[in-house]
Parts: sequence; C-alpha cells; structure tokens
Amino acid sequence: MRRIPFILTGAGLLLAVLAVQGHDTAPKKKETTTTLMKKKLTQSQKVLEGIAVQDFDLIARHARELLFISKQAEFKQVLKTPLYEVYSTMFRSNAEDLIKNARKKNVDAAALAYVEMTLTCVKCHKHVREKRQARAAAFSNPSASAAGSPRAGR
Ligand code: HEC
Repeated sequence: MRRIPFILTGAGLLLAVLAVQGHDTAPKKKETTTTLMKKKLTQSQKVLEGIAVQDFDLIARHARELLFISKQAEFKQVLKTPLYEVYSTMFRSNAEDLIKNARKKNVDAAALAYVEMTLTCVKCHKHVREKRQARAAAFSNPSASAAGSPRAGR
C-alpha cells in the first residue's frame, strides 16, 4: 500500500507535464480535437481524485467518460498512422481496465491502470509530435538527405 501515494504523485506530475506540453506543441488544430483533449485532461484528473480518495463510483464514471471521448470520430482521425491506432486502442483498453477495477473495488489495480493510461497519453503525444516535426523538416529542407551523401561538395 505504501507504493500507491508514490505512484499517484508520479501520475499527477505526468498529467501536469502533459497539460503544459499540449499547449506549445499543438499550434493549429481543429477546435473539436482541442475540446476533446481538454475534456480528457479534466476527466483524467477526476479519475485521479477518485483513486486518491478511494471513491470507486467517481473512478468508474469518469473512466467511462474517457472511453466515450476516445471513441468519438474527431479524436480517432487526427493522425492516420498504424502507431496512432495502437495508442488509441491501448488508451481504450486502459480506460476499460479502470472501469473493471473500480467495479472490483481494487484501488491498487485501478492506480496501476491509471498510470498505464497516463503513459499512453505521453506516448501518443510523443508520436504525434515526432510525425509533425518530421513533416515540417521535410517541407522546410527537402535536400537535407543529400547533404550526408559521400559525393556532397565534390
Ligand atoms: C491516441 C492518441 C492520444 C492519446 C492516447 C491522448 N492524446 Fe491528447 N492529444 C492527441 C493529439 C493528436 C493532440 C493534438 C491535437 C491537435 O493538435 O490536433 C492532443 C492534445 C492534447 C492536449 C492539448 C489540447 C490543447 O489544449 O491544445 C491535451 C491537454 C491532451 N492532449 C490531453 C491528453 C490526456 C490527459 C490524455 C490521456 C488521459 C491524452 N491526451 C491522450 C492525441 C492523444
């Protein structure tokens, strides 16, 4: 049981980082995705509250909201890459684990599912950022690949 406060502090920190990162890495986005993501942040903070005070209804209710948000079309179609699909699926399965463990009134398992879900947030955001940066780099410097070739500068 002594591990739980530690895990929750870590998860809380990750969420804070997410909130800050989301703001400078998403310059031009559709209003719908932004709204959905803000809702996600709020809902996940509510889940954390539920875990912290062992309120299983609170956990289940907000995990269900998260599941619902992630099923919405606007959220699903932001990036069409196989990895994005993987993270979306993972996120849904994390939310389902949260609901299941809340039903079982297992706070340790719920805390673990919460941490896993938070890591999925981070992984997906990292993927989105990398994809966008790669695209931006290719656009601003199309000949970058030639610079490293042995014949360059002959
Ligand atoms: C499957 C991918 C994926 C997962 C999982 C994910 N996000 Fe996001 N998130 C995105 C994308 C894509 C954006 C950027 C939206 C854009 O720029 O169009 C984003 C942006 C955000 C933003 C910034 C929104 C703004 O104000 O501009 C926040 C906050 C956010 N996500 C929170 C979360 C939280 C909290 C979780 C986990 C509980 C999470 N996200 C999980 C894909 C994901």
